[in-house]
Amino acid sequence: MLEVEAAASVPDGVVAVGVPVLAGTAAEEGEGHSPFGWIVPPDAVHGASGEAVRGLLPDSPVEQWLQEQGFSAGKGTSLVLRAASGPPSVVLLGLGTLVGADLDRWRLAAAALVRAAGEARGAAALLVPDEPPGGDLASVAAAIAEGASLASYRFDAYRSAPKPGCVGRLVVVGRGDWASGLRHGAATARATAFARDLVNTPASDMTPRDLAERVRERLSGLDGTSVEVWDQDRIAAERLGGLLAVARGSGEPPRLVRATYTPCGSRDRGDVPHVVLVGKGITFDSGGLSLKPADGMMTMKTDMSGAAIVLSVVSACAELGVGVKVTAIAPMTENMPGGRAQKPGDVLTARNGATIEVLNTDAEGRLVLADGLALAAELSPDAIIDVATLTGAQVIALGKGFAALLGNDDALMDSLQAAGVRAGERLWPLPLPDDYRDHIDSEIADMKNIGKPREAGTIAAAMLLARFVDGVPWAHLDIAGPARSEESSGYVSKGATAFGVRALLDYLTHHPGAGG
Ligand code: BES
Ligand code: MN
Ligand code: ZN
Repeated sequence: MLEVEAAASVPDGVVAVGVPVLAGTAAEEGEGHSPFGWIVPPDAVHGASGEAVRGLLPDSPVEQWLQEQGFSAGKGTSLVLRAASGPPSVVLLGLGTLVGADLDRWRLAAAALVRAAGEARGAAALLVPDEPPGGDLASVAAAIAEGASLASYRFDAYRSAPKPGCVGRLVVVGRGDWASGLRHGAATARATAFARDLVNTPASDMTPRDLAERVRERLSGLDGTSVEVWDQDRIAAERLGGLLAVARGSGEPPRLVRATYTPCGSRDRGDVPHVVLVGKGITFDSGGLSLKPADGMMTMKTDMSGAAIVLSVVSACAELGVGVKVTAIAPMTENMPGGRAQKPGDVLTARNGATIEVLNTDAEGRLVLADGLALAAELSPDAIIDVATLTGAQVIALGKGFAALLGNDDALMDSLQAAGVRAGERLWPLPLPDDYRDHIDSEIADMKNIGKPREAGTIAAAMLLARFVDGVPWAHLDIAGPARSEESSGYVSKGATAFGVRALLDYLTHHPGAGG
């Protein structure tokens, strides 16, 4: 993973220097002046690298020169200038306009720098101003560390010859206390990369048993955490009927992982808020007997993203010393069409005693989440948040750029949405109207596991989940679309995105009851 550090001047020998550029705002927008150009004056850059930077930039009016280069400075844009005599190259990094709080501009700028440096090894430097636009210094520092680290993410475990890498170090050059924000961002990025690794690993190498083991390993060295893994017998003894029903079609036994982080000093005093995260952990979703077509199955190792995300968040909470108690519950199983598989029309009894008629075995996520949410509610926490690649309908409604946000508590949902904005993970609310309850009415059981044909599939799924939270404030993130990317760009790489890790961590670190 990329190393990130702060320094007062550009170290010698860097291969690339990033120079942030603000875009102009049109005068008629009433923003006053048009700040198109540098926010760190190049003559403030000293040393040998400073000379190299100045040698590539003009003396002439900056605006005009930038325009001649055809550089708009739009958010996420970049332009590489190469010195005739070799490195360092200078990378102009567009920040977009000054309007509004926006941390993502810094994630994208740092990512663009890492990508522009290409396969060059060594260090890159990023010039930063004393008062960065878009957020306070600590948040901007964290965003830079996240953007750079995540852009450098590679998953090479299955290549006989790893692809060429990228710079191994980013030096953030400025005055002020950048170091602590950078450390915070690096920890967030590490948790994200851990989750991406779990999701990108092929399903046959990431069974419920493998996943539980990897999580145990990761958390074993972290202060304030504990992990419990339930095997099939324990799951049966605990009457997790949803998880057991889905697992029946697979030769692989299910697992349920419960990981807890307790803030240092608060143990047993119960004086800090408690948030329970529940993650869908279907390590492979074939659809079961309601089998998916081949194309629909290709990416279904991704169906344990929710589990990977909530468990990674626990690890990051421990690294960051978050002030909230966090429990992650991850029911894990394959969804396969084996000879003992559940059949359409079967009825199961979930942990809380409610019965579900399973009319489509491919709507399995809600069955395992029903048990997970019931367990969460038994802990009487202050909030429950579940994360799941739950419905194809979410992708239809919102595409890959937004997760759907549903729940029973407006304040919780608003906080999560605000956290998503800061984290660069957009969540968009969908309603959970009372008069849609009949969408999941069953002929013979308390409910069925599908809604009306081709109607509000994401809402119908959440409607079922709502029946298992026992009145506890609850929010549901359907990440079916954003969990996976089909291209590498910005700080996202092709494959698993671990979408949700950053929004959840932002929510937990900004939690009002978290203290200081
Ligand atoms: N894991 C899928 C949802 C999914 C689809 C995630 C595409 C990512 C990309 C889920 O288990 C599923 O199959 N849902 C069904 C439910 C339907 C049968 C009611 C769906 O959305 O088609
Ligand atoms: Mn499914
Ligand atoms: Zn699924």
